[in-house]
Amino acid sequence: MDFSIKAGAPEKQKSPCIVLGYHEDKGFTPSAAAVDKAAKGHLKKLQVSGDLSGRAGAITLLHGVPGTAAKRVMLVGLGKASELQAKAYRDLVSKAIKAMADGPSESAVVYLAEAKVLDRDEAWCVTQLASVATDALYRFDRMKGKPAPASRLKEISLGCASRPSAAVESAWRTGAGLGAGVSLAKDLGNLPSNVCTPTYLADQARALAKSHKLKVQVLDEKDIAKLKMGSFLAVTQGTREPAKFIVLEYQGAGAKDKPVVLVGKGITFDTGGISLKPSGEMDEMKYDMSGAGSVLGTLDAVARCKLPINVVGLIPTCENMPGGAAIKPGDVVTSMAGITIEILNTDAEGRLILCDALTYAERFEPQAVIDIATLTGACVVALGSVATGLYSNDDTLASDLLEAGQQIWDRAWHMPLWDDYHEQIKSPFADLANVGGRPAGSVTAACFLARFAKKYKWAHLDIAGTAWRSGKDKGSTGRPVPMLFNYLARLSAK
Ligand code: BES
Ligand code: MN
Ligand code: ZN
Repeated sequence: MDFSIKAGAPEKQKSPCIVLGYHEDKGFTPSAAAVDKAAKGHLKKLQVSGDLSGRAGAITLLHGVPGTAAKRVMLVGLGKASELQAKAYRDLVSKAIKAMADGPSESAVVYLAEAKVLDRDEAWCVTQLASVATDALYRFDRMKGKPAPASRLKEISLGCASRPSAAVESAWRTGAGLGAGVSLAKDLGNLPSNVCTPTYLADQARALAKSHKLKVQVLDEKDIAKLKMGSFLAVTQGTREPAKFIVLEYQGAGAKDKPVVLVGKGITFDTGGISLKPSGEMDEMKYDMSGAGSVLGTLDAVARCKLPINVVGLIPTCENMPGGAAIKPGDVVTSMAGITIEILNTDAEGRLILCDALTYAERFEPQAVIDIATLTGACVVALGSVATGLYSNDDTLASDLLEAGQQIWDRAWHMPLWDDYHEQIKSPFADLANVGGRPAGSVTAACFLARFAKKYKWAHLDIAGTAWRSGKDKGSTGRPVPMLFNYLARLSAK
């Protein structure tokens, strides 16, 4: 999709379609009012006759509006200005863009950023317009023999009655860059595990590095063994697929600026190992690398938007398979940190690969480390698919992430890491057990990670419920790329 800006009077736009909004209570937005004036009250007449509903998301498509250069005028109801919430705005934008994509227009000029959204400014509306549009138009049909014909819509322009400010231009580019990063994360998540292997993720990291001039390093199992990542290696020993440890570095600030390190769980398929999972819905465990996908997607968006900040991406990636060489319940392994772990359940493998990556992160002297993982089914039970579980050893970092997510609409909820919970992961045979029983399963998983993250400010995002949708709309959501990106954008602007 091409994103551009078209400045000038809306009634003069020679476009296949212009998209205008109107509030139920406040009436036409400035651009809709301008078109109505040029059309000598044509829109007003339709409103009076009851043909235009201002209900949020109501769509009316008009042809040949007098005094208007565009072939079509799409009118979109914005609901009451006094009530339009962020979510309702996102939903109506998505609906309008999808309706457009189903029609014959090859391009459109959209004026919906003129909407009045509660607690949000124009720049927010502009960014959301581009990122929600990308989200609405996303399709994954690479694995189909014959992909469905592509939508005719190729270009979306932000309509501005006068010359846009630098802030609006930047907000529009931000939305497009973020949308692209989210799409990358979705693609990686949606690919089946026989395509999206650790080697494939490493190739994607190399490709990303090439297109954005990032530094990249891919460590193989020999290198990983040299680093003494005994916990990570234990997980991969049951599969034939070679494990990789990916290190990506984006430098947008001075060489001495401390980086933010993002660590993504990259289990390209999680069978559970010897503690085998039940077969129902096991296909969804191809999404167990969504944390890794979100690291690549965030770096893509950060690089596209040239954020003035340093970011390191770390991805431990492997499969979790049963087999003759696989780890068994009761096995004890030694992590890179020297902490020994009794593996009571081979299905609690995410924390086993992440703990070594967290130790590796120390060498970057980071200002913060954030790990992202589809870590526990218990998190899905606690928060469903609405909020990501957020844990942190630093309250400022936690609130920065919460706010970033709340603002961009990719929300998290703060969960506890209290000492009391650490009792559950004690082992009679090793320093730590890799499971803490059924109660508070998401919390004890986070507590396990916390033991390896003592040397820096750290946050953990459990995205087990938010990274993908199940059921008939099954697919990756690309979350939490928006939250991470917005966190980094706000941090870099400080
Ligand atoms: N990848 C899973 C977590 C998961 C399960 C995410 C279902 C989304 C949906 C993780 O590796 C796992 O298997 N966790 C176990 C931990 C348990 C053995 C302590 C779980 O949640 O059941
Ligand atoms: Mn598992
Ligand atoms: Zn897993």
